[in-house]
Amino acid sequence: MKGIMMKTTHFSLLACLTLMLAPAMASASGDGVALRHAEITFDNETLRKGLTVFTDVCMGCHAAKYISYRNLMDYPELGLSREEVDELRGDKALMSGLITELSPEDAAESYGKTPPDLSVIARARRGGGNYLYSILTGYEADPHGKIEDGSYNIYYPGNRTAMPDPLAWMGHDESETADLEEQARTVASFLVFIGDPHQLERKAIGVWVMGFLILLTLVLWMLKREVWKDVKKH
Ligand code: HEC
Repeated sequence: MKGIMMKTTHFSLLACLTLMLAPAMASASGDGVALRHAEITFDNETLRKGLTVFTDVCMGCHAAKYISYRNLMDYPELGLSREEVDELRGDKALMSGLITELSPEDAAESYGKTPPDLSVIARARRGGGNYLYSILTGYEADPHGKIEDGSYNIYYPGNRTAMPDPLAWMGHDESETADLEEQARTVASFLVFIGDPHQLERKAIGVWVMGFLILLTLVLWMLKREVWKDVKKH
């Protein structure tokens, strides 16, 4: 009995360790460059900032057509009032998705590639939020001096991207870098959130399930004691 217990404990510990390490192992990009770690959070301030970056900057080229203005109103985490949503959507319908003004033809002409829809991009790319954060902060000078038109990106597959640095900052002083990183972090958080807003619900359900299991264990244990007490008496 003791042997089995020991083995089970060892196995559980190993399983837990694997589960904890898996996300870290999965966050290496296709080119083998380790992605930068982003502090992805779903607090109200972060999500609102991320939404603003998305609508002000990213929507110049990208859409998130599966997310409607109505959806934005429904997320308690965003906490947007009807008036705020009305202001954002302008003359578009409440059920309309977040659509860009840039037509696919114009995009192809200007950038050579169509900017992909970002509704579920965080789930579609390995590394999710870390990947988004990394490419948004990964514009650098090509260390080999080959790519000199600003399209070098250390984290982009192939190190070259048709997306012009969307959060380009002019200087390199610390406050501007911090601002760029914060914009990248908040918009990455927003994209992870809209890609799967139900993860919060699932987490909440998980807590309830754990609580229920603990309670169930307690009840069963008490029941067992009760049953054995009678058995011993007779
Ligand atoms: C000036 C136009 C433009 C703006 C603004 C822009 N993008 Fe892009 N984006 C592109 C283009 C073009 C591509 C396709 C690049 C390619 O395939 O090489 C792209 C690709 C992407 C991809 C896909 C990367 C992949 O793995 O395929 C992501 C994610 C992305 N952009 C996020 C953003 C975010 C977030 C913002 C706002 C902060 C943003 N973009 C702003 C033009 C833009």
